[in-house]
Amino acid sequence: MNFHFMVSTKSLSITVALSMLLLMPVAGVAASKYSVDNPPKVPFKYAQGKKIFNNLCSKCHGEWGNGTTQGPPLMHGFYKPSHHGDPAFYRAALKGVQAHHWRFGNMPPVPGATRKDVDTLLPFVRWLQRENGIY
Ligand code: HEC
Repeated sequence: MNFHFMVSTKSLSITVALSMLLLMPVAGVAASKYSVDNPPKVPFKYAQGKKIFNNLCSKCHGEWGNGTTQGPPLMHGFYKPSHHGDPAFYRAALKGVQAHHWRFGNMPPVPGATRKDVDTLLPFVRWLQRENGIY
């Protein structure tokens, strides 16, 4: 009886430790200083990019790029130009991404996304990254 108790406590703590490990990358998600409650004033020249970003990307990356339960924050050092240059954004939108940095799973190609959409949304994302001090 005593033995059984010890085993189940141990497996419980292993389960807890494991789930903490799995949740770790997700826990640091809120990387943007902006949120739905605290939106930045978007300069006019990025307004169209924001609109397209919201239509195609924010479902997973968050309205202000700070991530959701379905995708990582783009307001993160991983995604600054020196680490994920502009081609990574075209590739992601048009071809999808094999999960490698996080535990959200693969990013599927975004239905209906075109190069022109990325031409327009990318300057908005880069502006938002600069606003957040990412680079
Ligand atoms: C269905 C959810 C989803 C949507 C919609 C989505 N993404 Fe992603 N995206 C992800 C996930 C998940 C990853 C993380 C993959 C990983 O683990 O590295 C990711 C990663 C990325 C990356 C990193 C690419 C790399 O090479 O590591 C970029 C850039 C990106 N997304 C841009 C976009 C853009 C731009 C859009 C809109 C056109 C978009 N995403 C829409 C889920 C999504």
